[in-house]
Amino acid sequence: MDTVTQTAAPKVILTGDRPTGCLHIGHYVGSLRRRVELQNSGEYEKIFIMIADAQALTDNFKNPEKVRENIIEVALDYLSAGLDPSKTTLLIQSQIPELTELTFFYSNLVTVARLQRNPTVKSEIQMRNFETDIPVGFFTYPISQAADITAFKATTVPVGVDQLPMIEQTREIVNRFHYIYSPEKEVLVLPEALIPESEACQRLPGTDGKAKMSKSLGNCIYLSDTPDAVKTKVMSMYTDPLHIQVSDPGHLEGNTVFTYLDAFCKPEHFERYLPDYANLEELKDHYTRGGLGDVKVKKFLLNIVQETLEPIRAKRKELEKDIPAVYEILKKGSQEAREVAAQTMSEVKHAMRIDYFEDTELIRSQQERFAAKEG
Ligand code: TRP
Repeated sequence: MDTVTQTAAPKVILTGDRPTGCLHIGHYVGSLRRRVELQNSGEYEKIFIMIADAQALTDNFKNPEKVRENIIEVALDYLSAGLDPSKTTLLIQSQIPELTELTFFYSNLVTVARLQRNPTVKSEIQMRNFETDIPVGFFTYPISQAADITAFKATTVPVGVDQLPMIEQTREIVNRFHYIYSPEKEVLVLPEALIPESEACQRLPGTDGKAKMSKSLGNCIYLSDTPDAVKTKVMSMYTDPLHIQVSDPGHLEGNTVFTYLDAFCKPEHFERYLPDYANLEELKDHYTRGGLGDVKVKKFLLNIVQETLEPIRAKRKELEKDIPAVYEILKKGSQEAREVAAQTMSEVKHAMRIDYFEDTELIRSQQERFAAKEG
C-alpha cells in the first residue's frame, strides 16, 4: 500500500523472563548470552529487558511471595551475566500500567478460538493440568505479551523457539490494529523473533537427559550454583547407557554431555583443557569409535562450565553486597520504560479515537454540530 508511511524503525530489543526461579544455564545459552552480545554490539538504539512478574502471576497467582522473591534473583542473574544498566533498560512488567491498558484494547482484536489454537498456550495448559479450570488471565497472556512487545516498539525479540507462537500472535495483532485503526500510519512496529543459533542452545536438556530443565525435576545447573554444586551435577550427568566399558563405542544422540559441549565448547577450550584433540569433531569421533571414557569428557565439560560461570559468580557476589542499588536500577529502568510505553499509549489512543481531551478539534467540531442543530 503506497499510502502507508513507513520509515525504517530504529532497532529496538525487548525480551524478558518470568521471575519464578533463578536463571539456569539453559536460559544462558538460550538467550542471556545472546542478549549481552546484542547489547555490546551497539547496533540497537534501545534494549529493554523485562522481568515479567505480571505474566508469572498468571499461573502463580496463589503464590505471590514466590514471584516477589525471584525478582531480585533474576535481576542479579541479569546483571552478573553482563547486562549493563547503562546500555540496557531493566524493568519490572507490573510497574508499567500502560501494558495492562494496551492488553485491554488488544483483546478486542483476538478471538477465543485463536488463543485456543496458540501452540504454546495449548501445551502450557496441559502441563499445568488447567484443562477444566483455565484462569482467564493465563489464557490471554499472549495478548499481554503482545502489549509488552509493542509498547516499546520492539523490532527484535530474542526468545527461545517455544515463544515463536507468541511473536506470531503479536504480529497478527499489530496488523489488525493497523488495518482497523490506522491504515494510513503505522503506529505500531511489526516485531521479528531472534532465535538461538544452534539446536543445542535452543533446547538445552536437563542434566538427567530429560527434555526440559525444570526446578521441580532438580535437573538444572543455575548461574548462581557454587563450584561444588556444579561439579556434582556435571559429574553425574546422563550420558549413553550403552557405553559401559571405555572401549565400547559411544552414542552422541541424546547424550547430554555432548549436547552441553555443543552449546558451550569453543575451539580454545581444547588448547586449554584437552590438547590431545583439535576440536569437538575429533572428540566425538573418538567417543563413537570407542576408547574414550565418560569421565574424561565430563571433566572437560566441567572445566568449560566452571570457566563460563566463574566471572558470573564473582560479579554476583559483588552485586549481592548492595541489594538496594539493584532495586534502584530496576526502579529507574521501570520509570524510563514507562515513559516510552506512555508515548506509545498516547499514539494508540489517538489512533483508536479515544484521545478526547487532547483533541481540541473534537471539542470545537462537536460545538459546531450542536450549533448547526440550533440554527
Ligand atoms: N513468555 C516469556 C517466557 O515465559 C516471558 C515474556 C513475557 C516475554 N513478556 C515477554 C518474552 C515479551 C519476550 C517478549 O519466558
